Order: sequence, then C-alpha cells, then structure tokens
Amino acid sequence: MKVPFLDLKTQYQSISEEIDIALRHVLNTTAFSGGPQVERFEEQFASFCQCKSAIGVGSGTEALWLTLLALGIGRGDEVITVPNTFIATVEAISLCGATPVFVDVDAQSYNMNPHLLKNAITPRTKAVIPVHLYGQMADMDPIMEIAGKHGLFVIEDACQAHGAEYKGHRAGSMGDAGCFSFYPGKNLGAYGEAGGVVTNNPELAAKVRMLRDHGQSRKYHHEVIGVNSRMDGFQGAVLGVKLKYLAIWNEARRRNAQKYRELLSGMDGLILPREMDYARHVYHIFAVRVRNRSDFMTELTEKGIGCGIHYPIPVHLQNAYAFLGKGAKSFPVTEECADDIVSLPMSPELTGEQIEYVADTVKRFLHPSVSSKRGVQKTEGHRMPGAVHQAESLVTTN
Ligand SMILES: Cc1ncc(COP(=O)(O)O)c(C=O)c1O
Repeated sequence: MKVPFLDLKTQYQSISEEIDIALRHVLNTTAFSGGPQVERFEEQFASFCQCKSAIGVGSGTEALWLTLLALGIGRGDEVITVPNTFIATVEAISLCGATPVFVDVDAQSYNMNPHLLKNAITPRTKAVIPVHLYGQMADMDPIMEIAGKHGLFVIEDACQAHGAEYKGHRAGSMGDAGCFSFYPGKNLGAYGEAGGVVTNNPELAAKVRMLRDHGQSRKYHHEVIGVNSRMDGFQGAVLGVKLKYLAIWNEARRRNAQKYRELLSGMDGLILPREMDYARHVYHIFAVRVRNRSDFMTELTEKGIGCGIHYPIPVHLQNAYAFLGKGAKSFPVTEECADDIVSLPMSPELTGEQIEYVADTVKRFLHPSVSSKRGVQKTEGHRMPGAVHQAESLVTTN
C-alpha cells in the first residue's frame, strides 16, 4: 500500500468542478492580479478568522515581513520568536532589518514557552511572534499578558494553523495581526504561492494593503516604499472555493489524529503529539517522536509511507543565522525535538485503512515481536531525497 505524506490530487479531484469553474472565471474576466475573486476571499477569510480585515499577499513570508514593516519595526529593534519553526518566521524579522531573539519552546506543546519570554525582553524589544506550530496555537494568554505589560506587538505566525483555536479564539484573531501561508500543502492551500494577513486594526490593515501594492494609496500616488506582493487572481479563486471546505477538512484531520492515537497510544518508544487543554489542534502536521529515527524513516519509506522532519535543523543552528552566535545547547528543547521528531502522513484524505497500515508499520518497527491482527503488505517502496520522503506527490510541506 502507498500512503502519501499528503494527497493534493485526491483533494483536487473531490472539488474539481468548482475549482475549474472558478479558474475559468478568472480567465474570462482577466482578473489576474488582485480583483474580485481575491477581494471576496479576503472578506470570507477575515470572517472565518473572527477578524475585521484580511489582506491577500504573495506568501506567508511576505505576510510576516509586511506586517512587521507596517508596525514600524526595523533596524535596531529586536523581535522575539522561537527557533523551533520554519526559517521564514525568522527571515521576515531579518528582512525588515530587525534582530531576531529566540526563546525555547515548551516540551509538551513544542510552542513558545511563555515562562522564558520575560527574560528575553530588552529595551529594544518591539514585538513577539509566537508560532502556532503543526496546527496548535501557542499558549496565548500569558504571551498576550507579558507583551501587554511591556508594550510589545504580538504577531501570530499562523502559517500552519488555519482554523485552529485557543479557548474559542481563532488563530490570527488574538494578536495585533495573524499571518498565514497558503502554500499548496497547508490546511488551506492555494495552487501556487500565496499568503494573508488578518487583523482587527483598520490602520494596520490599510498599511499592509498599501505596502503590498508599492506603497500606493491610489494609482501612482506612493505614500511609502512598498513592494509587489499582491495575491494573484487564480489563487484568490482557488482559495475562495477551498475555504468552504476548510472546517470539514480540519475535522477530518482531527478524526485521523484521533485514530492514530487509538492505534498507537501507550507504545513504548513513541511519543504522540499532545493536544493542550486550551487548544483546538488542526493537525497540519502529525509529529511523533521516536528512537532510531533514521532507521524508522527508512522502514516507513520502504513500506511506501511518506514521512518528514519538521524541522531537522533548528533555525539558530542554520548557517544563515550563525552570526547570532547561538551554538548547540542554546535551546535544548528545540534541539531535542529536531533530533527525534518525525511527521507521519496527515491529510483529510487519509483513509482508515491507510492509518491502520501506517500504525501497523510503526508498531512492527518499534516492537518486532508483536504481531498485529492485520498483515502488513509488502510494497516496493522507494526513497526520495530531502527532508520529506514522499510517496507520489510533487508538493509536500514547507
Ligand atoms: C511557521 C511558518 N512560518 C512561515 C511560513 C512561510 O510561508 P510561505 O512558504 O508561504 O512563505 C511557513 C511556511 O511553510 C511556516 O510553516
């Protein structure tokens, strides 16, 4: 049996009629850059996120970067975030000229540890970026409280958390702004590159809107130096169709996570992701922790099961951030995660049979003497290079 890491083709096939009509509409109206489909999606996504405004931009990286710029953050400022994230969170801080400052993550949630936040604040600190990693929101109440006391902006990196909740609040709605990636592999993914900023602050929304369009307030009137980060019409059209299904798809991910839990809980040598009591996790990634990760991944790959590591090298240990001078052991929880974390296949399209097959393979690897009730089928699995070993799909995850 083949179990792809995620299955965008099956998802497309399930909504292809609507998608094709929406794309044809963009062709017929030639609304290729911005336009009515992008505007409609912006309105609907703002409402989905319990926010007043949403601004479609070119990518999640640009959503973060433009939000920081719009908040006036630049050279000489410090922005606190976590090293346990995709590098884009930190790149956005660097792109606006500010200095990233890291705090380690909590060992249960893998998200920002609020107890470490206070000590990282200096007179130069301007903002905090909690990352809602894997689809679970960071512990926002204490983060908001500390940020409020010190007059810091809070920008939620919600690039992996479309529709996730913290005590009933949707991702993106709690901070000054929330930034989303619509990279194809995300819970809400475009058919190309796209991102979005949501906020309840009309001034901030207006600034981000200007910055994404060359700093224009109206055509050829440039108030500030901006960039071209407009969302393209095709992406607006695709996202508008897919947003209608996001809640159903997130539910399916939650059901699939529950099934993994039923089949794999209590296994020696395996740590399952923990859903915190304050959170409604949307399982963008289902990350487990195992001993002998390399052999484990080889075994899954040979059995035709796509798997990945999110992320194998923490940001502070990347060459690009060597200049920060944070060597090994600077952030032990992040570094331990990087050593043994593995992401199992997760998508709304996973079938019960596929989950059973993955669970069976995991069990047999960890405890070879235990024979399961279902036979594990032999496949000709193949191995692909890179951090994600994927069975048959060109797009995986960032
Ligand atoms: C946590 C996080 N932040 C930022 C980004 C950047 O988004 P994009 O790839 O759309 O630029 C991603 C994308 O993978 C992400 O996972």
